Parts: sequence; C-alpha cells; structure tokens
Amino acid sequence: MPTSSLNPHLPFGENKLADWYGKDIISVKQFGRDDLEYIFGVAHEMRGMVERVGTFDLLKGKILANLFYEPSTRTSSSFTAAMERLGGSVIPINEVKYSSVSKGESLPDTVRTLECYADVIVLRHPETGSAAIAAKAARKPVINAGDGIGEHPTQALLDTFTIFEELGAGQVDGMTVTMLGDLKYGRTVHSLARLLSLFKVKINYVSPDILKMPKEVMDEVAAKGIPQAEFGSLEKVLPETDVLYVTRVQKERFEDPAEYEKVKGAYVIDPAIMKAAKKDMIVMHPLPRVGEISVDFDEDPRAAYFRQMEYGLYVRMALLAMVLGKA
Ligand code: CP
Repeated sequence: MPTSSLNPHLPFGENKLADWYGKDIISVKQFGRDDLEYIFGVAHEMRGMVERVGTFDLLKGKILANLFYEPSTRTSSSFTAAMERLGGSVIPINEVKYSSVSKGESLPDTVRTLECYADVIVLRHPETGSAAIAAKAARKPVINAGDGIGEHPTQALLDTFTIFEELGAGQVDGMTVTMLGDLKYGRTVHSLARLLSLFKVKINYVSPDILKMPKEVMDEVAAKGIPQAEFGSLEKVLPETDVLYVTRVQKERFEDPAEYEKVKGAYVIDPAIMKAAKKDMIVMHPLPRVGEISVDFDEDPRAAYFRQMEYGLYVRMALLAMVLGKA
C-alpha cells in the first residue's frame, strides 16, 4: 500500500480522505499532484462501478443542493447523475428566478437555507469570488461549479482526468497543451492552466488579441517554471500539440456586442486543419460549442470532447464521495 507524503504512517488513501472530508472545493489552487493521484484513482473506481453495477449506495441518505444562477447542461446534470448513481438525492435549483433569490435573498442567506436541508452544495454563479463567499457562510461543503470568469475547478479536474485516461497518466509530463479561443473570459482555461502547472508541460495560448489569457494566470503558471507562449494563429503550434483545448467565444461575457462580432468565428477546427496535427493527440472542449469545432470532425478518434463529458461524471462522483467522507 503506498503511503502519503503528508503522513507516512497512514495509507495514502486514508490520509487523503481525511484531508478532503467536509472541505469546500473553490479553486484548483487547493490541489497538489498527490491529490490528483487520489481523486483520479477514486474516479477510475467510480467508472468501473458504474460500468459494472450502474448505481450503488455509497451516499445513500445524503442530499445535494444543486444551486445554479447561470445556465448549465453538463455540470448541473452530471452532479445530479453523480449523486443519484451514488444512491443520494438532489434538491435542484436550476432556475433561481423561481426561488427566493427573485425576492432579493442574498447568496449567503440562500446557502444558509439550503444547508439546513442538504449535506453538500454545488454552486454556479456569475460573479467571480461568489463560491468563496458562499463557502464562508456555509458550515457544509460548497463546490464551485463556475464563478463568473474566475474558476471552474471541477471542470479542470475532469479535463486533466480525461488527459490521464486518454493519453496515459505517465505521459502528462512532457506534453504540449495548446489552448485556443476565448482565453480571457474562459474560466475553464484559467483553472486548467493552473492545474496543469503541477506537471512538466508546455502551454501554448492561441487567441485573438482581445481575448488573451489574463496576465494574473500566466504569472502564476510562470512561477511554477512552466514554459508558455502566445500566438494569434494555430498553424505554427498545431503539429507539436498533444492536447488541443478549444473554447467557445462567450458572447454573454462581452459588454460591447460589436467586439464579439469581430472575433466570434476566429477559429474553426475541421478535418482539413487537423491534417497537420499528430495522429495520437486529442482535441478537447468543455462544451457547449457554437461552431468552433466542425461537426465533420466528430467521428475522428482524436475528438475526445464527448468522452470528456462522461469522465466528468466519474470525477464528480469521486469529489462528492470525498467531501462527504465516503471515498
Ligand atoms: N462545461 C460546462 O461547464 O458546461 P455547462 O455550462 O453545460 O455546465
């Protein structure tokens, strides 16, 4: 049994479970490589259990409050499916206008209300920092499901798990990851760049000038000794890329619609462009897409974005089990 670097007297898993029991998940900055090893080990087990038995009773009697102030298909439904596959149940608040939020209830009071009925709260909110505010108000664990243009830590975890499962855990060190599209407003890439800086990767950023990766994120990644480079076009970096992470230009984040119109179709991945890429690389996307990956590419084995959604179920099952002390 491998032991933990934190306490060599405890088996690795026991120590990690104690580390995460009752904890909030707000930012990828909370995770080290040993945490990822543990989470992905549990997620891998969850995958096996879902494939073998479908649903089981690890979290029987536990309740998740799924509180979404912004639209979601994948994050909301995968957390619901994760809880239900573990035998628990869900209070869904996917349209806050039908809740007391529409009467002016504050986020801290909404969270204090939901924790009276639930054991864990998953929150998506349009303001950066909202998950930390909610976590401060709550006694129960809060999981950040996206806070404005800030972070989307569970997406970065499932993205990294996807890379591990698709390309091999041992292969991450030495990889070249290219992030493409809206890097300014894309919270998924903010979290993923930070999380990948735990590995010896090289990161390329390809975006229009007005949608570059924020300096704050690049400075954090640089502080870990990770080589980074910025480009306006994909052409130069595609042949060396092991993971191409495509993002949507997020219309809803633009104050000036004319600015969105200028950059909305800046990049489109299609079979012709992908001829220049390696045969054993993968293309990822947090989804939804609005044209930046042609449907003509969907049948290519390198198109990992639909498989990526399924990996999200297993990672979210692992996270729920961990914060509820049952992993
Ligand atoms: N990737 C992602 O966060 O998708 P949703 O907005 O559908 O949850």
